[in-house]
Amino acid sequence: MKIGVIGAGNIGGNLTRRLTALGHEVAVANSRGPQTLGELAAETGATPVAVADAAKGAEIVVVTIPLKAIPGLPDDVLAGAADGFVVIDTNNYYPRERDGRIGEIEDTGITESRWVANHLGHDVVKVFNGTYAQDILDRHRPAGDPDRIAVPVAGDDPAAKAKVRALVEDLGFDTVDSGTIDESWRQQPDTPVYGLRAGVDEVEKALAEASPERSENFRG
Ligand SMILES: NC(=O)c1ccc[n+]([C@@H]2O[C@H](COP(=O)([O-])OP(=O)(O)OC[C@H]3O[C@@H](n4cnc5c(N)ncnc54)[C@H](OP(=O)(O)O)[C@@H]3O)[C@@H](O)[C@H]2O)c1
Repeated sequence: MKIGVIGAGNIGGNLTRRLTALGHEVAVANSRGPQTLGELAAETGATPVAVADAAKGAEIVVVTIPLKAIPGLPDDVLAGAADGFVVIDTNNYYPRERDGRIGEIEDTGITESRWVANHLGHDVVKVFNGTYAQDILDRHRPAGDPDRIAVPVAGDDPAAKAKVRALVEDLGFDTVDSGTIDESWRQQPDTPVYGLRAGVDEVEKALAEASPERSENFRG
C-alpha cells in the first residue's frame, strides 16, 4: 500500500521502519522538511516529502505529531489522498508536559481523537496511542505467538477500522475493537489500557474498567 506518515519522531519513525519492512511504499514528513529526513530515508527506503505532499495518493495517512501541532497543519493536508483513504491517529493530549491547555477538549469533554478528526475534517481511526514507540520495533510477534500483545482500535467507520486492524495485525499486534471515536476515552492517557503490554483478554478487561472522567494529571 501507499502510506503517508506525518510525523517522523518516535512513533512516525518506527512505523516508517516497520511499514517499509513489510513492503509498503511510505512517504514521510516532519515539520522541518524532507532535507532533514535523509537518514531515515536511507535506512528504510521511505520517501521524504513535505507535509503538504505526504497524503498524495495514500490509502492510509498516519498523523503522529504533538497534539498542539494539529491545528497548524495545512488546511488541505489530506488533499490528493486515494479514494476512500483512511487516517490513523496515534496522538495524545499532554497538557502539562507538552501541549498546553486545549480548552476545546477540556471544556466540551470531547475525546482527543474527536478533536483531531474535527481539525482534519476527516474521520480518524485511533490506534497505537498507548503503545511505547520502541515496542513497535521490538515487540511485534507473529499471529498466535503467546507473547503477542494486543492494541485497542477505535473508529466510527467499520470499513476503515477493519483496514487499520488488518494493517496492525500485519505489523505484529493483535487488535481489540474499542468502539467509536466518541468512546475512545477508554484508551486515552492514564486509563488502564494505556501502556498496557498484554493480550486480547487483558486489553478487553482494561478497556471495560476505564472511566470517561479526565484524570487530574491530564488536565491543563
Ligand atoms: N513516544 C511514544 O512512545 C508515543 C506512544 C504512543 C503515542 N504517542 C503520541 O504520538 C504522537 C507522536 O509522538 P512521538 O513521540 O512520535 O513525537 P516526537 O518524537 O516528538 O515526534 C514528533 C514528530 O512530529 C513532527 N511534527 C511536529 N509538528 C509538525 C507539523 N506541524 N507538521 C509535520 N510534522 C510535525 C516532528 O517534526 P520535527 O522534528 O521536524 O519538528 C517530529 O517528526 C504524539 O501525539 C504522542 O503523544 C507517542
